[in-house]
Amino acid sequence: MIALTLSRIAEIVGGRLADVSADEASRIKVTGTVEFDSRKVTAGGLFLALPGARTDGHDFAGTAIDAGAVAVLAARPVGVPAIVVDPVAPDAGAAGTAGVLEHDADGSGAGVLAALARLAAAVAAELVADGLTIIGITGSSGKTSTKDLIAAVLAPLGEVIAPPGSFNNELGHPWTVLRATPSTDFLVLEMSARHPGNIAALARIAPPSIGAVLNVGTAHLGEFGSREAIATTKSELPQAVPASGVVILNADDPVVSAMADKTAARVVRVGRGPDADVRADGVSLDPLARPSFTLHAAGSQVPVTLAVHGDHQVSNALTAAAIALECGATLEQVAASLAAAGPASRHRMQVSTRGDGVTIINDAYNANPDSMAAGLKALAWMAREARSFAVLGEMAELGEDSISEHDRIGRLAVRLDVSRLIVVGSGRPMSAMLHGAVMEGSWGSEVTQVADADAALALLRDELQDGDVVLVKASNSAGLGALADALAADATGEGAR
Ligand SMILES: Nc1ncnc2c1ncn2[C@@H]1O[C@H](COP(=O)(O)OP(=O)(O)OP(=O)(O)O)[C@@H](O)[C@H]1O
Ligand SMILES: [Mg+2]
Repeated sequence: MIALTLSRIAEIVGGRLADVSADEASRIKVTGTVEFDSRKVTAGGLFLALPGARTDGHDFAGTAIDAGAVAVLAARPVGVPAIVVDPVAPDAGAAGTAGVLEHDADGSGAGVLAALARLAAAVAAELVADGLTIIGITGSSGKTSTKDLIAAVLAPLGEVIAPPGSFNNELGHPWTVLRATPSTDFLVLEMSARHPGNIAALARIAPPSIGAVLNVGTAHLGEFGSREAIATTKSELPQAVPASGVVILNADDPVVSAMADKTAARVVRVGRGPDADVRADGVSLDPLARPSFTLHAAGSQVPVTLAVHGDHQVSNALTAAAIALECGATLEQVAASLAAAGPASRHRMQVSTRGDGVTIINDAYNANPDSMAAGLKALAWMAREARSFAVLGEMAELGEDSISEHDRIGRLAVRLDVSRLIVVGSGRPMSAMLHGAVMEGSWGSEVTQVADADAALALLRDELQDGDVVLVKASNSAGLGALADALAADATGEGAR
């Protein structure tokens, strides 16, 4: 944030002052962060009153002021100094906030989010004029993993602000923008879409001068209807980057590569093929599936070993490398930063080996067909000479393709020679996964369906032995994260190694 008076903020967001005089509002400045959780408020901050599933942020206005906030951005007067904005229909307005707030019947939350977007846009514009570089990334899989790698490779070059976890929608994105201050050099933003127009709207809030598209897969297929519709929405990012900017495209994904036609910006291609500008050559994996390769760029080359797991991380790392090189890093700096950047966000390819010799791959944060395939391949590699357990739950949001995609993953597990597929859940999609595995030739104890995570945990506790490798993966909504944590914690008494 930059220090702004309440009157200036009211002017930017088109709100009116409540419970504070015009005179006071022209003197009181927001100097702290903008928070929507009253427990996170710090001195000089601005509290965002949003409707929630169980509570209404407006009820916490007083608590936020007690915690040091100087004012509240709200949909109605709250008895403490506030900037009050009108409601908007949830689907209306540039922010397109439908689906971000679960309970917003009267559009008051959408009104506050629209105000937040305007505030973030004004702050971003001022910081960019002052030299801030904004980097936007999108893609069906790997935005958060890549965001963490980008933050790592840019760190030696200056102060980086990147979102925690997966803050990538019409709340998390502007919230992250407002973490930037005049001392910030790089602002890294994850941009996600549920509908056409979402990414364009996020790019209007904080126009990136560097934009990267990782891949176009089938995540959220149910929302979009087709892969083409997903591609069109993702291409809103290259379209938003101006001629003076740079667009990084994954040359190994033909749909992404074709987005070169959609941008006025200079295009940098990353990939494994000879045509890529930033290229990985000779990829090999260590026993824990951490990739090593030779990184080629601008006629030079350097050996790179990643500290994250899975062959799919190569393209994420290439994207991060290309961005760092654009920002002035040397190849050697990039290699050193990547070597030190282990898994940073929870439940994404977190690999731990327990004291009893069982290795857990906790990839339970989310799942779509592409990331399931990536996770299963990493499992197959890590368990080359051991027993592999794939503990899989439902992939959400696949629409009418749900049954066929679950069937496909069941078959893939068999083709990758997974020793034991444990299908968690009894709904139709999970039965389709079981059926796919059986049709592909799985038999006997090679595949088992259990009702829930508890049953899976009991079964695993019974069966796991020294040397086994276990992948736990599902959409977040399937709740397998707790199962993976419990598994990883088991046997740690003997000392995790
Ligand atoms: N390049 C990639 N290709 C396929 N899968 C990937 C890739 N990068 C990461 N993944 C896998 O995709 C899953 C989600 O990763 P991550 O959280 O980084 O993605 P995301 O795009 O941020 O997801 P979300 O849309 O839920 O925020 C993880 O299982 C991760 O291992
Ligand atoms: Mg994410």
